[in-house]
Amino acid sequence: MMDLVAAVRLALAETWVFYFKAHSFHWNVRGPLFRQFHQLFGDLYEDLHGAVDTLAERLRALDALAPASLDEIATGSAIAFTPPPAAADMVAQLLAANDVVITALDDANQAAIAGGNDGLANLLQERLDMHAKWGWMLRATLDPDQASGAVA
Ligand SMILES: [Fe+2]
Repeated sequence: MMDLVAAVRLALAETWVFYFKAHSFHWNVRGPLFRQFHQLFGDLYEDLHGAVDTLAERLRALDALAPASLDEIATGSAIAFTPPPAAADMVAQLLAANDVVITALDDANQAAIAGGNDGLANLLQERLDMHAKWGWMLRATLDPDQASGAVA
């Protein structure tokens, strides 16, 4: 199992890159549904920005230093940046990024539980709940059939 500090660092990295991607798409989205996408991506980046702060502060509570550069905060992230795509592709990219964040948070949660750090585990589980909600909203935006519940 991943060391707790390393697991929280990676969860922070993935949350940060997801945050920046959502904010960038908020700026760059175009098309007839601009207002809806702009607002959805705005709600998403605001939530993620708050989570970045919380996770970085949790690193300090573990007596580790928080990242001090943009390179450092993104280190290890599996989420790729692209030039701004069409709105539907933005949603698909954000949904994929959300899944990457969920994996990282899940790993950190397992490490926190194994380390007996209940407070941190609770926080990570709250974030996992929030990302399950974002997953639902992004899937429902992307494809109404996919969000019907018929697909596991
Ligand atoms: Fe804005």
